[in-house]
Amino acid sequence: MKDVYILGIESSCDETSISIVKNGEEVLATVVSSQIEVHKNYGGVVPEIASREHIKNITFVLEECFKQANLTIEKIDAIAIAYGPGLIGSLLIGLEAAKTLAYLYQKPLIPVHHIAGHIYANNLVKPLTFPLLALVVSGGHTELIFMKDHFCFEKLGATLDDAVGECYDKVARVIGLPYPGGPEIDRLSKEGEAVYLLPHPLDDESYNFSFSGLKSAVINLNHQYEQKGKTINQADLAASFQKVVIETLVKKTKRAIEKTGCKQLIIAGGVSANQSLRKAMLQLGEEMKIEVSIPPLSFCTDNGAMIAAAGYFAYKLGKRADLYLNSKSQEELN
Ligand code: KG4
Ligand code: ZN
Repeated sequence: MKDVYILGIESSCDETSISIVKNGEEVLATVVSSQIEVHKNYGGVVPEIASREHIKNITFVLEECFKQANLTIEKIDAIAIAYGPGLIGSLLIGLEAAKTLAYLYQKPLIPVHHIAGHIYANNLVKPLTFPLLALVVSGGHTELIFMKDHFCFEKLGATLDDAVGECYDKVARVIGLPYPGGPEIDRLSKEGEAVYLLPHPLDDESYNFSFSGLKSAVINLNHQYEQKGKTINQADLAASFQKVVIETLVKKTKRAIEKTGCKQLIIAGGVSANQSLRKAMLQLGEEMKIEVSIPPLSFCTDNGAMIAAAGYFAYKLGKRADLYLNSKSQEELN
């Protein structure tokens, strides 16, 4: 069978990333230009600045990617683009680059949903095995997705308010940690103990999540300490918050495994970089006797390789976009 080379482009938030992936599983080159240092000054991503940074970086990232892969664009079979969801201005930069390349070199353009990308990042580690359950935990999403086959996404549940990553970032900001807060809380929580009592959100029979109440509880507790002129133990607070988040994710995921009888559990999205979550999910896999797949840290957060991996299967299924493809700030997984 002929090898298929997909160029994947990702620019939905604050990473400009382009990768080349062979047959949906082998990364030949991946370049990520992160804007974290720029946005750190503002405590979070500033959309206008993100768009401008993408414009500045995208040609360099593209050149570097081909240099790393040591091949030319003629070898590429299709261009996969994360067209949404995300920041509209940021998405547009990647999309225009993808369309330009597709038009100039007469390559098929493959539209890839950003979350499909996160799920397919796992195919870079081991093949997806169906039926599978994907727990998607990122800065914008918290979802349990059931898949019977490639690109058959059935949403079992989602967050009713904040996404987990968003909550990590907000809690971190309140206790004075830099952006992005997820890795900071992850690190700090190892130094503390979960001594503070926090509410377990939406502890019900559904597969939905709710994290805004937990976020408010952390903010209020911190505030109460400040008002009394005392300082809260940051590490203990981080550990307490993280414990509740992980217990909640594990509980709902476990129930979804029981309901679906899936063969594989996949953890996807930026928060899957979380050390305690990874450990807890591997443990759950052992307990439930199913395979657990979690991407290596470099493929947990946004990257072009995950878009190329998903793009390969979309390409095989005949999914194509024309040059009228537009970016979408919000879009259901498809
Ligand atoms: O998937 P991603 O790169 O972008 C979105 O699609 O949103 O996820 C970014 C999110 C941020 O909220 C960041 O704080 C969180 O992932 N994150 C983490 C960790 N590393 C990144 N959250 C918890 N623990 C981590 N180690
Ligand atoms: Zn993402």
